[in-house]
Amino acid sequence: MHKASLGYAMTGSFCTFEKSLAELQKLLDSGYAVLPILSFHAAQTDTRFGKAADFIARMETMTGRPVWRTLTAVEPIGPKKLCDLLIVSPCTGNTLGKLAAGIYDTPVTLAVKSQLRAGRPVLLGVSTNDALEGSANSIGTLLARKNVFFLPMAQDAPEHKPRSVVCDFSKTGAAAEAALRGEQLQPLFF
Ligand SMILES: Cc1cc2nc3c(=O)[nH]c(=O)nc-3n(C[C@H](O)[C@H](O)[C@H](O)COP(=O)(O)O)c2cc1C
Repeated sequence: MHKASLGYAMTGSFCTFEKSLAELQKLLDSGYAVLPILSFHAAQTDTRFGKAADFIARMETMTGRPVWRTLTAVEPIGPKKLCDLLIVSPCTGNTLGKLAAGIYDTPVTLAVKSQLRAGRPVLLGVSTNDALEGSANSIGTLLARKNVFFLPMAQDAPEHKPRSVVCDFSKTGAAAEAALRGEQLQPLFF
């Protein structure tokens, strides 16, 4: 079955990569063509959650396409209308801040700029432990921006990390369908 073309971008919330990749697999299984994208940090940083090269290899095997991880690779996304929807999940506090401030110096932020320039939708999956602190302004700014949608999100550990918010990755498919219709999946906060 032919479905929409998706850009699927991951930024450096390394602890959520497995959850995000599981959702990527579900999107592929349901028939979407997916263009994989990584931020510089996501593509280059080995952490206790895994090696960058392994994540790249997995994404390439899953999607059957090379991972786009340079500014030059992602720049045509908007002008050539390559993605019906661009998903950024996980989306770090760093990437949220850059998007809110109009800074586009990574493959993921430039991909978002390129997509929005074409009037096409972007879906952000927040994962940052300063969401209710330093990143709160960024989230507020982006909530008011046209064609920007969010995965439903919640405080993940209110007692131990009271400023932290993480999206519900399991809602990726439903939120993508809504964003493709130009709608925000509700409830946004649960
Ligand atoms: C092990 C590890 C886990 C991290 N987890 C997160 C996270 O969950 N959320 C977040 O906003 N930043 C997290 N960071 C920090 C980001 O990776 C860092 O701010 C980086 O500059 C993000 O760049 P990017 O948004 O371009 O990928 C983590 C860093 C490391 C090393």
